[in-house]
Amino acid sequence: SLVDKANYRHFMAKEIHEQPEVVGHTLARYVDMATERVSLPVTLPFDFKDIQRINITACGTASYAGIVAKYWFERFARVPVEVDVASEFRYREAPLRKGDLAIFISQSGETADTLAALRYAKAEGAHTIAVVNVPTSTIARESETVLQTLAGPEIGVASTKAFTCQLMVLANLAIAAGKARGELSDEDETKLVHGLVEIPRLMSDALTTELQIEKLAHRIAKSRDVLYLGRGTSYPLALEGALKLKEISYIHAEGYAAGELKHGPIALIDETMPVVVIAPYDRVFEKTVSNMQEVAARGGNIILMTDAKGAAEATVESLVTIVMPDMAAAFTPMVYAVPVQLLAYHTAVVMGTDVDQPRNLAKSVTVE
Ligand code: G6P
Repeated sequence: SLVDKANYRHFMAKEIHEQPEVVGHTLARYVDMATERVSLPVTLPFDFKDIQRINITACGTASYAGIVAKYWFERFARVPVEVDVASEFRYREAPLRKGDLAIFISQSGETADTLAALRYAKAEGAHTIAVVNVPTSTIARESETVLQTLAGPEIGVASTKAFTCQLMVLANLAIAAGKARGELSDEDETKLVHGLVEIPRLMSDALTTELQIEKLAHRIAKSRDVLYLGRGTSYPLALEGALKLKEISYIHAEGYAAGELKHGPIALIDETMPVVVIAPYDRVFEKTVSNMQEVAARGGNIILMTDAKGAAEATVESLVTIVMPDMAAAFTPMVYAVPVQLLAYHTAVVMGTDVDQPRNLAKSVTVE
């Protein structure tokens, strides 16, 4: 059945490994493979040309998918995006203009704060899109437009495959917005879609880092704190890495924008502190390298996640370098999510925690 662990020790392991497949299914729903164009499964009841601002609202891991999407919408479609956690958005009385677009991201479609935020946005007259995994959920039923993620049932409390499927849907929506607004040409679109089509295979490649990460997990398990750094779309992934680690291994972790290092977390760095640096060779790579040098100078233990080019050009001694496949820079979060999830998973296994049912956490937070 869909909801057994197959040969895996935990649902979370199974769900991490399923990602190439379910992200591929999601891709096939949103892209016309024959023409290599984005083809949304529903007709939007508005024109992206008329949208002046987008609000994205979600909780937990889904909110980090929202931050990645902000970078995509702003880059591909030149439309300003605000991202909020739902518990803040719902009580802030955020001014929404009638006809603006509000996007809600939720695996379960039942998160109380996200649902309340959706109801607020509807009452303000905004167009609403729900990116949800459960099509029969309350959030799916109540939003104007539903864009489904095809992750299948997610059982592990800590979200993994739902996150990468959310990213796949949002990438397509951002490309559609860029096209509609005249910011992307047909050629740009084809190039971006080519990049998306590669993702499932790249995720499979990323899974081959597992043995190396399993070894690394034994070191991470001895740490009191772990810092995650990234820039650009790797910044929300740093937030997600830290969240995943604390949720299931109970080791304190923080995610930071690499450029903010010197505004605080650098004070924490010493020889006992692992620093996970997510740095694909992209347009901000050099900037991240200079942050790594600051960490190295203070004796921090760098765990670098990068590609072959980045590994060759990083002029810093790292404890471990996890070499990721070469790929289009725009979509690295979907692929780099894999080692980030594996590191949290294996650390939790070493710690002997209840990986699928971590203490104090619920899969779906249906009460405030
Ligand atoms: C809980 C889960 C998280 C999830 C969050 C949002 O905290 O443990 O994994 O990211 O809720 O849930 P949703 O169903 O709205 O995506």
